[in-house]
Amino acid sequence: MSKETYVGAIDQGTTGTRFMVFDHGGQVVANSYETHEQIYPEPGWVEHDPVEIWENTKSVAESALADAGIEADQLAALGVTNQRETTLLWDRDTGKPVHNAIVWQDRRTTDRVEQLEAEGKVEDVRAKTGLEADAYFSATKAEWLLNNADPIKTQRARPADLKERAAEGEILFGTIDSWLIYNLTGNHVTDVTNASRTMLFDIHEMDWDAELLDEFGVPEACLPEVRPSSDEAYYGTTDSEGFLGAEVPVAGALGDQQAALFGQTCFDAGDAKNTYGTGSFFLMNTGNEAVDSDHGLLTTVGFQRSGEPVQYALEGSIFVTGAAIEWLEDMTLIEDAAESETLARSVDSTDGVYVVPAFTGLGAPHWDQRARGTIVGMTRGTRREHVVRATLESIAYQTRDVAEAMVADSGIELSNLKVDGGAVKNNFLCQLQADIIGTEIARPEVDETTALGSAYAAGLAVGYWDDPDELRNNWQVDREFEPDMNDAEADEMYDRWAEAVERSRDWARD
Ligand code: G3P
Repeated sequence: MSKETYVGAIDQGTTGTRFMVFDHGGQVVANSYETHEQIYPEPGWVEHDPVEIWENTKSVAESALADAGIEADQLAALGVTNQRETTLLWDRDTGKPVHNAIVWQDRRTTDRVEQLEAEGKVEDVRAKTGLEADAYFSATKAEWLLNNADPIKTQRARPADLKERAAEGEILFGTIDSWLIYNLTGNHVTDVTNASRTMLFDIHEMDWDAELLDEFGVPEACLPEVRPSSDEAYYGTTDSEGFLGAEVPVAGALGDQQAALFGQTCFDAGDAKNTYGTGSFFLMNTGNEAVDSDHGLLTTVGFQRSGEPVQYALEGSIFVTGAAIEWLEDMTLIEDAAESETLARSVDSTDGVYVVPAFTGLGAPHWDQRARGTIVGMTRGTRREHVVRATLESIAYQTRDVAEAMVADSGIELSNLKVDGGAVKNNFLCQLQADIIGTEIARPEVDETTALGSAYAAGLAVGYWDDPDELRNNWQVDREFEPDMNDAEADEMYDRWAEAVERSRDWARD
């Protein structure tokens, strides 16, 4: 009897790397996770070591398979999903990075973006890329690396002028998907969703944009080939001598938020999901139309399957949500994430306290690179329970900020919101979210939808799953949360939030 087959997924996120294996019903059969170091060389700077990330990828894959007693040759395909925008350069010959990766949260290029604003270039950036010019995206990070990375100091690449070598195709640019796929298969590729987050890619032409490459001094020769997110031609196969010791087609890749959209089976225009990770990312599928936003959202690529047109999405990118719970832990206000729920429930309200966790500026819909974390409304009677509750509430309010923008831009009323990510285990947060946005919240049984989405993309490409309908049938609800607060009360709380946000704005100075 032939052995059962599965699909594997690498989920390389901001705080750690996960390897998961799914069966034909979309159920989890193996799961292993490791964190990596967060490197903060200066205030506002965030880096990751790409070598550590690759080593962790190998070790979580090995341990997931070993724990589940699955052989690598039982994997019909492999999908990759990743923290988006995080940028690195590496040497084509040695495969070594020339510098740490600059993480999406990094603010070192804020001045450069302000220069674009002063030169009146941001409208053009938006028209081509669908993005709000911001240090969040890869373009200014790549420019910084090409101008500043010091290969001699890092001992990671041959010392020579990086730009010249990039123009010769000797130094390669990539986001984390490219880096992993290069290590897995030897091929330098990216998918359409990751390309759409670089601020170098025209999402209407679906190609790298020569003017933007010129603006940021990024040579075309160093860029990866852009491929569909679910690719019947595969990005490549793993080597029987290398990763896991088996030849497995690597056939699916999506940025993690688009992967969650795919994993939540948001295949049709109007389908929406919100993922609660380090930040929260609210995406609505808009079908084959790239809808422009008038309310501070991003227009981005949702996904593309081989031979099919691109599906676009509107996105509300919230930079800090789950990371605010981590911050509570770092501040020793809670012992672990679970305690945030207990403490928040132990008081009836925040007693007027608002926490705006704008630690890395504010993303959608405010886009303020200089906003910073702010607590307002404290009195002598304020206790940690109030601050903890206010931090959880900030997650729900920020989601309402982008949900309102989404409805205004798309003209579609939200009737139901699918949620996923680590923080949705918190029932208090899910109920609060339903109350604050006045919409039913649906939490699926498999809440690791990011990994699931990349597995679906890979599995569809190799014919492990026949079509999206099969995947829709796999989606099972775990629990639904109905709004339980009257609208006037929710609106009053939310209006005050808007005032707190105003106080957090434009704070950071050079
Ligand atoms: O755009 C950044 C996003 O992709 C990061 O996601 O889940 O790693 O926080 P996450």
